[in-house]
Amino acid sequence: MILIETVAGMQQFAREHPGEIALVPTMGYLHQGHVSLMREAKKRAPLVVLSIFVNPTQFGVNEDLENYPQDLARDTRVAQEAGVDVIFAPTPLDMYPPGYQSYLEVEGITRELCGASRPGHFRGVTTVVAKLFNIVAPKCAVFGMKDFQQLAVIRRMVQDLNMDLEIVGMPIVREPDGLALSSRNSNLDPAGRASALCLSRALAAAKDAFRGGERSVYELRRRSLASIQGESLAELDYLEFRDPETLVPLQQADGRTLLALAVRIGAVRLIDNCILGEE
Ligand code: PAJ
Repeated sequence: MILIETVAGMQQFAREHPGEIALVPTMGYLHQGHVSLMREAKKRAPLVVLSIFVNPTQFGVNEDLENYPQDLARDTRVAQEAGVDVIFAPTPLDMYPPGYQSYLEVEGITRELCGASRPGHFRGVTTVVAKLFNIVAPKCAVFGMKDFQQLAVIRRMVQDLNMDLEIVGMPIVREPDGLALSSRNSNLDPAGRASALCLSRALAAAKDAFRGGERSVYELRRRSLASIQGESLAELDYLEFRDPETLVPLQQADGRTLLALAVRIGAVRLIDNCILGEE
């Protein structure tokens, strides 16, 4: 495994290996969710490039950029074990040099859910992901469904701008007790960690009701919300039932229905989701 720390170095490598690269974009502090993406990438191309870059442009002014956990030494061991060929870890200055002024914006679907509570977030995500696609020139890129809206936004961008690569989405990896793995979980104290279970409980409550035949979004939402409202450390950002492709709000969960939620546990903002009607 090699470590490439410059954009120029990565572009050079990409030129030498056309059509051979699967890319896994991350912000590091790797966990088993990231590992599942690397394993999938390994199946899809001869070479796996893992990017590790805590992208400043996708963080709002009062967000956790400064507290975002980082550990390149540990990430290197995890990546090596998962069969990664190249870690691409550029500096912010190399990605956004002085005079930088180009951003990429997907409209519509970036305005809601996480986009509503984090203005500018998806503009930063699509900008950095487009830059990574240009630098690494992968034949495919692997993302997690944990960030469901992010995946939908990236698919939209790739389709709209005729980017010539395949986007692969992978299921959410969870702790044994149900908490979705996230780099941000490391910022939870023990009480916060216990409270964070309310997210997966809220999904389970809706799934139970759905399995029992309930299809009214009003009723499913009421059952689901009870899990969050019972948790004193948890502050709800959103809990929404949407069409999984268009993210349009639904009144009835008749077909496949996305249940997506975001909750603040103290200063830590967590997201989770599931698809109802898909076991
Ligand atoms: P990051 O939060 O590090 O996530 C990197 C990738 O790992 C994303 O595709 C995310 O959906 C996936 N992932 C995270 N937790 C997961 C879990 N529990 N199960 C499965 N997949 C999981 O998402 C980002 O970084 C950034 O926004 C990025 C796309 C790298 C752009 O900066």
